[in-house]
Parts: sequence; structure tokens; C-alpha cells
Amino acid sequence: MLIIGCSNSRILAKNIAKILKVEYSELTVKKFPDSELYIKFETEIKNKELVFIQTLHPSNEAILELILAAHTAKELEAKKIILVTPYLAYIRQDKRFNPGEAVSSKIVGKLLEIFDKVITIDPHLHRFKSLKEVFHTQTLKLTSNGLIEEFIAKKFKNPIIIGPDEESYQWARETALAIGAHAAIFKKKRFSSTKVRVILKSPIDVKNKDIIIIDDIISTGHTILEAIKNLKIHKPKSITVIGIHGIFADKKIYQEIKKYSTIYTTNTIENPHAKIDISNLIANSLK
Ligand code: R5P
Repeated sequence: MLIIGCSNSRILAKNIAKILKVEYSELTVKKFPDSELYIKFETEIKNKELVFIQTLHPSNEAILELILAAHTAKELEAKKIILVTPYLAYIRQDKRFNPGEAVSSKIVGKLLEIFDKVITIDPHLHRFKSLKEVFHTQTLKLTSNGLIEEFIAKKFKNPIIIGPDEESYQWARETALAIGAHAAIFKKKRFSSTKVRVILKSPIDVKNKDIIIIDDIISTGHTILEAIKNLKIHKPKSITVIGIHGIFADKKIYQEIKKYSTIYTTNTIENPHAKIDISNLIANSLK
């Protein structure tokens, strides 16, 4: 097995290779003066099982990098090519919400079907119930739930777990059940990609309690900030935010979230709050 560190996930890739005690090589990715991508393997890949580690944030060039690398690997007769993409981008565009829109998740899925197997962590499966609806290749869906549960259990006694919308409840409820905590859920109305409103579905007493808001993706952060604003009124003892995939695309919102809460995420996407390490989870799936 040869682990290939792609441009978004070099640190993670190196860690995984170290855990598995297998060969590691960095994919060289450069840009030509006109900004076209240049890709080069730095080691012999013929007859090897290649595992590409590449999270999809930022996504657009990272996808093109993978396509160029995967086709090259096939031409150079790699035995098998596996993609580990801890954060699977484009998956939220899972329906034509308005006439003429691209159902991008399916199209990106098709592009990545060149890989013999795709492994990802907590993909945002909402209208799709399984990765089989996105990829016609072998897939494996891992979950960081166990790691998040351990993390919470070490830090908190009797917290209340909050899912900021119905979609996030699959993570919030699972976690709450596993650690024996109360859980509650917000109902979210999305007006645009940058405007949401949330209301608690049923009343819950959060006064003087440690609150943990769990969501799969913190993208702009609007969802989380709205939930925080709603909860703050009821004077909780503390507010913690746990996101699986921490994007933080809106810096102003991010600063506000930081003002009112402590943030933790996994390291599916590198960011200053990535304290929950998923390296072992991935390594175990490759054994
Ligand atoms: C979608 O429903 C997801 O679970 C997240 O709640 C959503 O992607 C967060 O987006 P944003 O941070 O932009 O509000």
C-alpha cells in the first residue's frame, strides 16, 4: 500500500501512513503560469495499491487534482486506487431546488467514480439515504460519532446536546443517546445560503446547564450562530459547539461564534479548532 498525500490533506496523510507503517509519497501539485494544474507522482506506482488522501475543502481545484492523478495512476498501471476524502464536498446540492440547477452531488460523484473505492466521513446524507445513490463504485461511510462521544464524556458531566436543525439531529441524537444526555432539536428555515432562522421544536430548560451544539458541517456558521443566539437568552452555564467538518467560510460569523462559545471540530478539514483526530478511524478502515 502506498499513501499519497494530496494538497489539502498532507498532514493527515502522513499521520495515516505512520500509523499503518506503510510507504508515503506526496503528490506534486504545481501551477503553470496560466494557472493550469501540473501533477506528478514522485515514486514508482506500478502494481501498487494507492490510497489518495484528499479532503474536499477547498474543493474545486482539489477535485481536478484528483481526476488528473487518478487517470494518471491508471495509465501508469497502479493495481488499485482508493480515495479517502474525509469531507465530501458538493453533497448538499442533492436535488434540483430550482429549475435549471445542477444536481452537483451526482455529477461530482460521477467524476470520482474513476476510483475503485471511495471512503468518506459523515457525508451529509439528507435526501440521499446512501452513498450508493451518489457513486457507482465501492464506497465506505465512516462516522466520527464514537470519537465525539469520547471527547464529550472526557470534558463534560450531564451536558445537554442540541441539534441546530432536523438534518443534524442524526448526529446530535446518536451522541446524546450514547452518553446518556438529554437532546433537543431546532427547526430551521433556510431563506438562502447565508440566511437561516431556527426555533426550538420543544421547550427545554437550559438555564445553568452546559450546552453542546452538534452539527455535521459548519459552513458559513449562520446555523450555529442562530442556535447560539436562541440559547443565550435562557442563560446556560456554557455553550460549546462541535462540528464534524469545520469550514468557517464567513469570517465575521466565525468571530461571533467564537465570542459566545468554545468551538471544537474534527480534523477532516484542518482548522485551529480541529482537536478531534480522525487519523486512527481512517487507518483502521484501510487495514
Ligand atoms: C445542513 O443542514 C447542515 O447540517 C448544516 O447545518 C449546514 O450545512 C450549515 O451551514 P451554515 O454553516 O452555512 O449555516
